[in-house]
Amino acid sequence: MKIDASTVVVITGASSGIGAECAVACAQKGASVVLVARRESQLRAVAQRVLDAGGSPMVIVADVSREDDCYRVIDAVATTHGHIDVLINNAGRGNHASVEDTPTAQWRSMFNVNVDSVFWLTSRALPLMKKADRGHIIAISSVAGRYGHPFNAAYVAAKHAVVGFIAALRTELVGTNVHATTICPAGVVTEWADATEGGSIGALYAKAIPRSRMISRERGLGIAPLSKMMSATDCASIIIDAIERGRTDDVFTHAGTKEIAVQAVEDRCTQEDRFESLWLAMREAYDAQGTTD
Ligand SMILES: NC(=O)c1ccc[n+]([C@@H]2O[C@H](COP(=O)([O-])OP(=O)(O)OC[C@H]3O[C@@H](n4cnc5c(N)ncnc54)[C@H](OP(=O)(O)O)[C@@H]3O)[C@@H](O)[C@H]2O)c1
Repeated sequence: MKIDASTVVVITGASSGIGAECAVACAQKGASVVLVARRESQLRAVAQRVLDAGGSPMVIVADVSREDDCYRVIDAVATTHGHIDVLINNAGRGNHASVEDTPTAQWRSMFNVNVDSVFWLTSRALPLMKKADRGHIIAISSVAGRYGHPFNAAYVAAKHAVVGFIAALRTELVGTNVHATTICPAGVVTEWADATEGGSIGALYAKAIPRSRMISRERGLGIAPLSKMMSATDCASIIIDAIERGRTDDVFTHAGTKEIAVQAVEDRCTQEDRFESLWLAMREAYDAQGTTD
């Protein structure tokens, strides 16, 4: 679908990072952009960027981990615009805890914000899209939705659920002009890695990555195949391109990550072995926190 002045795009998690850059990218094409998140002042700042870029912003303050807020968002857009062309389910949050340290509340929170929101928003928007026989549902999962990472199992499980949900939805949309696509980014420079529940997973990686290189040398293990960090602007442009091309495959934004995901399906042990030095270093860094915090 070409994004232009007639297009209404709803973006959750639009107050920062990938969501904010998707909003600006859509605005540059003249779209009406509905900005959804909890922090109103950040949303207003992004709304100004949308205006400056040539788009029409609408701000809705909402907590997408709440079912009633999700329905309120879609109903407000339907009332104002009468249609929704693109829904970018981008709001999301990670966690930082080993499996045994993960409180049930944190587990549920990961599923509320990362998975339940996608179901509630999508199920409410679909009748509008199906009636118009036009629409694109995007869900921002992660490479963590395709293969495992330590110390954020609740997030990894939630992002895997997003991949499964969109895969099932796609089969229901066969024969219609409504599309559904999962986006699987790897590292993107945003607030995400420091905003993780239970502590900063970014800080854990920052300690573990240099140590993992030493472990590789000491034990003769390979260097973990980490992909390069990407800017939120570049990630957003890949997402917008996926919408405009009508892509319905799972879109991997970072070079090499699709191959790792395929290997994880075919031979998970070999895939995990390639990351062994990093997982060992993360275990050291995670255990060391307990002694210094
Ligand atoms: N950055 C990465 O390396 C990376 C990699 C793979 C996947 N992802 C995924 O990409 C998506 C965007 O993350 P980002 O990297 O752009 O991080 P970010 O800058 O932290 O953005 C997260 C967005 O989600 C919103 N959000 C969080 N909880 C919410 C809630 N309960 N209700 C409404 N909005 C909520 C935040 O807004 P408020 O706090 O204002 O509500 C914020 O706008 C997430 O789904 C993330 O899991 C990120």
